[in-house]
Amino acid sequence: MSLTFRHWEIGPDTYAIQCPGYLPGPGRLPGWGYVISYLLVGQEKALLQDTGYGNADLKGYVEQLTDKPLLVINSHVHPDHSGGNKQFGEVFVLEGEVDSPDPVYFPQEGEKARCALVDACPDYHFSFLKEGTVLDLGGRLVDVLRLEGHTRGSMVLLDHATGFLFSGDAILKRVLMLAGMPLSAYRAALARTDALDFRDIYGSHWYEPLGRDYIRKVLALIDSYDPKNTEAAPWQGERDMVMFCHGNAFEEKDFCAIGFPSDCWEQMKQ
Ligand SMILES: [Fe+2]
Repeated sequence: MSLTFRHWEIGPDTYAIQCPGYLPGPGRLPGWGYVISYLLVGQEKALLQDTGYGNADLKGYVEQLTDKPLLVINSHVHPDHSGGNKQFGEVFVLEGEVDSPDPVYFPQEGEKARCALVDACPDYHFSFLKEGTVLDLGGRLVDVLRLEGHTRGSMVLLDHATGFLFSGDAILKRVLMLAGMPLSAYRAALARTDALDFRDIYGSHWYEPLGRDYIRKVLALIDSYDPKNTEAAPWQGERDMVMFCHGNAFEEKDFCAIGFPSDCWEQMKQ
């Protein structure tokens, strides 16, 4: 496994950072294979969304891009987004995310290989942000929003400077419903987000922006949900991942998919 980062600029003072590590996905569709952190630099502070697997020196890499004090958040606490937290001391999450009654931590090669440098860091602590908080990076405002479904406290960020919505795993080519919540709750959260003013969506597991209208495609997929048109793939032990999708492959512009653990069926259909 290569442990190198790479980054590219997606807007002024705005970077996507591909973290090393491999994340296998369930079913015939490929795993995501990588996770992306985002760095937003203001005049006084820089905001880092997510810390990767913790298998390489993300802090050192970020410090090559900015010398501003870092405000570090986890879009949610899955290990491919929070593995490097130990490097940063204080990490902000949305209220309710850490106390979720049913967090899903899936074992991953990347996390097992957390590097000695990260392990040697003093432990970190979480601090909590309320939904609706506006972060001021100095001439750059970022809204903290909730988009529940993947987890109960999934945080998305709306950056006023670029008009980008940083969605974590809450909007992706394939969203996994791991919070044991009904699909209708995720739909309502998407519709609430769709009413906001933004121009592009950047998720954690795809190189390209998804586009403003992508959220409508996910809404349409939910509205077309038919239990007869699902497919199941082995996932965790006895649990399958049940998926339904529009299109056939991630690379298709309009492709989107939703998956949920087979034992969550009763909650999902409410
Ligand atoms: Fe996740």
